[in-house]
Amino acid sequence: MKIAVIGAGNVGAMVASRICDADLADVVLVDIVPGMAKGKALDISDVRPVVNSSSGITGSEDFKDIKDSDIVVITAGLARKPGMSRDDLLKKNSDIIKDLSLQIKKYCPSSIVIVVTNPLDVMTYLVMKTTGFNPKKVIGMAGVLDTARFINILREKNKDIDDDKFLMMGSHGDTMVPVSRSKKVSKEDFIRASELARNRGEEIVKYLGTGSAYFAPSASVFFMLKAIIKNEKNTMCASAYLEGQYNEKDVYAGVPVVLGNSGINKIIEIDLTEEEKKAFKESARQIREGIAKTL
Ligand code: NAI
Ligand code: 2OP
Repeated sequence: MKIAVIGAGNVGAMVASRICDADLADVVLVDIVPGMAKGKALDISDVRPVVNSSSGITGSEDFKDIKDSDIVVITAGLARKPGMSRDDLLKKNSDIIKDLSLQIKKYCPSSIVIVVTNPLDVMTYLVMKTTGFNPKKVIGMAGVLDTARFINILREKNKDIDDDKFLMMGSHGDTMVPVSRSKKVSKEDFIRASELARNRGEEIVKYLGTGSAYFAPSASVFFMLKAIIKNEKNTMCASAYLEGQYNEKDVYAGVPVVLGNSGINKIIEIDLTEEEKKAFKESARQIREGIAKTL
């Protein structure tokens, strides 16, 4: 099993490191900055005797080295800076993503692609359209992260909440849609946690001063990779191509999916309240607006 991680910045390097530490697959890490991917790959490779891993790990600035990868993780692009919204990244990252998608189509035509680059739902749509891949094989990572943040914040007030009753759907942006089916959390705590989770990325950006979150994002990518490689068929939130589900068509948005070794096995349609339906519709509208700006 070979995984190409494109972009050897904070998220990409951390994803490569998690894969290698867990002996999950062989990794090729690619970045346009000369020497960067090679240096980080060497460093990650030296961990192997410590953790008893035999994963292959190499770094490169040449896209031909991603050839025949089974899974490609796209983390290349610019990260948010303080005061910069995810949408500010739209123009720059869409040019990068279109270019990368053509390389992926050329060298890994049968791969499953996990997109991380922001604005997430728009970039995932662009990868699917530019590669022409089956939408079930092009998946955006955000829902695992946003749901984890939501649950983590809820736990501050209630230690024994039922994790499987919470989801973050919709966009990886200001219109993400918090969903709770738990009786253990008060309306007040739900609203508090929804707001904090929605702003968590920005909160971290402000503290860091430069760059954005990467520990939880890389753990979330790893969780998805493991589900795919081990064919776990477990349910999680991810950005998926909607073809009528949740009354939306021709758009990517965060929904519960079942992941296995062919990518998205199934999109799960849960019953939403009228308020959630309205919020999801607004989220999809904003994602479509972003998509229109890139075409
Ligand atoms: P970073 O700036 O640390 O790394 C990005 C890397 O991409 C840089 O090393 C850069 O040289 C490289 N790059 C740029 N153009 C490239 C190209 N054409 N080919 C190969 N490499 C290229 O950024 P970080 O923190 O790793 O974040 C990466 C992206 O992921 C950003 O867009 C960020 O907003 C997004 N992100 C998304 C999350 C999500 O939940 N979906 C969570 C965290 C980050
Ligand atoms: C985050 O939510 C930057 O999208 C990234 O942390």
